[in-house]
Amino acid sequence: PPKLTPIQEEILALKRERNAVILAHNYQIEAIQQVADYVGDSLGLSYQAQAAQADVILFCGVHFMAETAKIVNPARTVLLPDIDAGCSLSDSCPDDRLAAYKAANPNVYVVAYINCSAGVKALSDVIVTSGNAVKIVNQIPADKDILFVPDQNLGQWVSQQTGRKMRLWPGSCYAHVMFTTQAVEKVRAKFPNAPVVAHPECTQAVRDLADEVCSTELMVKFAKETPATEIIVVTESGMLHRLRKEVPHKTFIAGPTDSCACNDCRFMKMNTIEKVRDALKNLSPVIDVPEAIRTAALVPIQRMLDWSK
Ligand code: 13P
Ligand code: SF4
Repeated sequence: PPKLTPIQEEILALKRERNAVILAHNYQIEAIQQVADYVGDSLGLSYQAQAAQADVILFCGVHFMAETAKIVNPARTVLLPDIDAGCSLSDSCPDDRLAAYKAANPNVYVVAYINCSAGVKALSDVIVTSGNAVKIVNQIPADKDILFVPDQNLGQWVSQQTGRKMRLWPGSCYAHVMFTTQAVEKVRAKFPNAPVVAHPECTQAVRDLADEVCSTELMVKFAKETPATEIIVVTESGMLHRLRKEVPHKTFIAGPTDSCACNDCRFMKMNTIEKVRDALKNLSPVIDVPEAIRTAALVPIQRMLDWSK
């Protein structure tokens, strides 16, 4: 195990004192991943949040993830190190606009990517993550008129994988659409034997040149199973810490953009190790969801958790 810094030691002591569990997304900085009890993708984190017995869940990720934890496990105090850690995808679908769309199209069946607000979840029929979207959509009755929100890229990929026609909300992840075929081809020329693994939030052009398209957690599985020893990883750069820890004998190359050798999500990177410490010390910032929205949002989340097993 790595030697911890004084601030990381302080966090572990506070964690015991507060009876807290630390859940961290794969995109968090390495120092946060090292003090977490669980590191994973949105799906794994949702199951962990629901099962958590600790008094406090310190969620190191972005706002919609911490909100989801509160929705599935309301008895816990849920903390987010930086309350402004949002998500461009979530922002692209405000709940009032979805409500207006539904009023104009009353029969649509709303499939919402988990990257959305509690208000949007409360208006949805089922939630999906990148790790289970194909499996979930395959279980939706064939006569349903599906509206997929808010990620048009993930929605398009799921539609291609399942053969289901879907209306797509015009949202996207600002970070994943920065990967270009030109930049990925350039790095592939340097590592010709390395397969390319890409997140489904990437554009179709980038997904089409990838050898594998999957969620962050499934990237760990892919890395373990492929005979290749060098792998190009087209997603947020935090993923490389997780991969290097789980598969230490292989080489991981960050997917580049046109202007940068790797790509950070500015929202994920708002959580710093100091803010993690302060959140446990102050028991703040707290995530709360109004009860009426929470109970409405729980229905499609629970449907996902059940269908996903
Ligand atoms: P995963 O569930 O695949 O980790 O994706 C979450 C996310 O925010 C991707 O940008
Ligand atoms: Fe949202 Fe994109 Fe950041 Fe994921 S990487 S949290 S989808 S902005």
